[in-house]
Amino acid sequence: MEKTVIIYASTHHGNTKKLVEAIAEKHDIVQIDATKQQYADLTEYDLIGFASGIDFGNFYGSVEQFLCNNLPENKRVFFLYTCAKVSSRFTESMREEAGRKGAVLLGEYGCRGYNTYGPWKVIGGMNKNHPTEDERNGAVRFYETLLETKRLR
Ligand SMILES: Cc1cc2nc3c(=O)[nH]c(=O)nc-3n(C[C@H](O)[C@H](O)[C@H](O)COP(=O)(O)O)c2cc1C
Repeated sequence: MEKTVIIYASTHHGNTKKLVEAIAEKHDIVQIDATKQQYADLTEYDLIGFASGIDFGNFYGSVEQFLCNNLPENKRVFFLYTCAKVSSRFTESMREEAGRKGAVLLGEYGCRGYNTYGPWKVIGGMNKNHPTEDERNGAVRFYETLLETKRLR
């Protein structure tokens, strides 16, 4: 059976953590909070996920730094994120860093997350109730597709 670890940071409203938890409810995965732990030996894992809220167009610095510090060469990697409005550009820098370590990029799943940054706070925030149950289930399905793809190889 594949061993999976997901390294995450979810500091704004715990939105991204909800995606990670949804996966953890159905599958045996290890979680590492990059805001609390910056080093780990990841060599034993077959699948390595990085999960984050989006901060001015990028994954949180703690998650990207964790990747730079710890991702072993030639691992299978995937990305999860929550944001104000989905864009594949948000993983650009992470993909680049992972690529430098010869990672096989399996894919990414992004959805909206509750956001009270700046002026949004005044009107009660945007994307209230996101990630929704559908979006959380979407993250689980995404992960299961990765498992399935791995089995077929
Ligand atoms: C300081 C700050 C900057 C943000 N920048 C972006 C951004 O550039 N693009 C975007 O779509 N969302 C942006 N957001 C929204 C968050 O990415 C979104 O609320 C996310 O779900 C937070 O995830 P978390 O609760 O897991 O930390 C920003 C939020 C904050 C507080």
